[in-house]
Amino acid sequence: MVAPLLKSALRSYESELAELERAGRKRFLRTVAGSQQAHIELDGRPVLLLCSNNYLGLAGHPRLRQAAAAAAAEDGCSSGASRLISGTMTLHDSLEKELADFKKSPSSLVFNSGYVANLAILTTLAGKGDVIYSDALNHASIVDGCRLSRAELKIYRHCDCAHLEEMLRSGGQTAGRRLIVTDSVFSMDGDLAPLPEIVALGRKYDALVVVDDAHATGVLGRSGRGATEYFGLDWRDLDVQMGTLGKALGSYGAYVAGAPVLREYLLNRARSFIYTTALPPAVLAASRAALAVLRDEPQRLEKLRQLGAFFREELRKLGFRVTDDPTPIIPVLVGPAAKTMELSAWFLEKGVFIQGIRPPTVPEGASRLRVTLSADLEFADLDRVLALFAERRRDFI
Ligand SMILES: Cc1ncc(COP(=O)(O)O)c(C=O)c1O
Repeated sequence: MVAPLLKSALRSYESELAELERAGRKRFLRTVAGSQQAHIELDGRPVLLLCSNNYLGLAGHPRLRQAAAAAAAEDGCSSGASRLISGTMTLHDSLEKELADFKKSPSSLVFNSGYVANLAILTTLAGKGDVIYSDALNHASIVDGCRLSRAELKIYRHCDCAHLEEMLRSGGQTAGRRLIVTDSVFSMDGDLAPLPEIVALGRKYDALVVVDDAHATGVLGRSGRGATEYFGLDWRDLDVQMGTLGKALGSYGAYVAGAPVLREYLLNRARSFIYTTALPPAVLAASRAALAVLRDEPQRLEKLRQLGAFFREELRKLGFRVTDDPTPIIPVLVGPAAKTMELSAWFLEKGVFIQGIRPPTVPEGASRLRVTLSADLEFADLDRVLALFAERRRDFI
C-alpha cells in the first residue's frame, strides 16, 4: 500500500525540525535506567550525571522511597480530582503545614509543578491594568505566566536594581497592582538576585515581591530554607515565595508560601490550581519525607557546598571564568550552540553527562555546558571531570 501523504501541517513541523537540526538546536530524549543519582546508566552506558537538579541526592533516598511506597499502599495512587471537587487528602494538609513551618510562613499551598505554580501566581495576582516588572533572565515559566496574565510587562536588565527603580518611578501612580518577579537563584547562570534591594524597592513603590525559589529550596540558607534564610529576610519581606519539590527535595510538585490571604485568593482564583487533578499520595508523602531528611541529615547540604566551592576553585585554577555564587549551578561558557553540543557529546563519550544549554533557553552566542552538582558525588568524581575540562580548555571562552 502506498504510504499516505503527510498533511501540510505535519510537513511544516517536519521542515521546522530539520531547520532546528541544521542549527544544532534539535532536542531529543536520552533514557536513564534506574533512579537519578551520581552514577547512572544512560542509553545503556554507565556515566557520571552532572546535569540533574537532584542537588541533595534525595531522589533515590530510602526514606523517600519508603514513604512513597507506604502512601500508595495506604491511600492509593490518585487524588481523584481537583482538591476543590473530591476533597483535599490528609496528606495535602500535612504537607502544606510542614511547608509553611519550613518556610517560617503562616501558610502554604501546594501546586502540581513549578511551571504550573508560576502560571497560577502571575495570571491570578496580576491582570489587565496591572504592571509586572520581570528580570530579563527569569525562568520560562515566569515568562509564560507574565504573557498569559495580560498585565503590562516591563523587563528590567538582569539583576539591575537601578533599572528596576527607573521603571517603577516612571510608571508613576498606576491605578493597578504592581508585581516585581524574580528567580532567587537563576537557573541557567546560578547567580543570585539582589533580594534585599528588591524588597526595599517593593516597599518604596508598593509593589508585591514574587520570588521563585526553585533552585534555592533545600539549597540556600543555613538549613536550606531558601532565599529568606540566606538573606536574613522573612515572609513579610518576600510577599510570594514559590519553590519546587522536584529539585533539591527529590520529589515532585511545588508550593507557594505567604500570607493566608494569598493562599485563599489563589485557591479561589488560580485556574491551574482549580482545574487540574491534585498531586497523588506517593508524591506528597515523598515530599514530606524529604523535608524530614533535610532536617535530619544536614551533612548533605554541607557536602554540596564543599563540592561546589572545590569545583569552582579548581576550574578557576585551570583558567575558566566562573562566578562565586554559593549555588550548585556552574555554567561554563562556550558561545556557539553547535560547539556546545559537540563538547557535550565529547564529555559523554568520556563517560560524563553534562547537558549543553542553547538558545532559546539562553541568548544567542551564550551557549554553555551547565554543570549541576549533587551531594551524591565524590571529590574523586570531580577530579575526573576537571581533567576533562583541562583537556578541552581551548574550546571554551
Ligand atoms: C527557576 C525555575 N522555576 C520554575 C521551574 C519549573 O519547576 P518544575 O520543574 O517543578 O515545573 C524551574 C525548572 O524546571 C526553574 O528552574
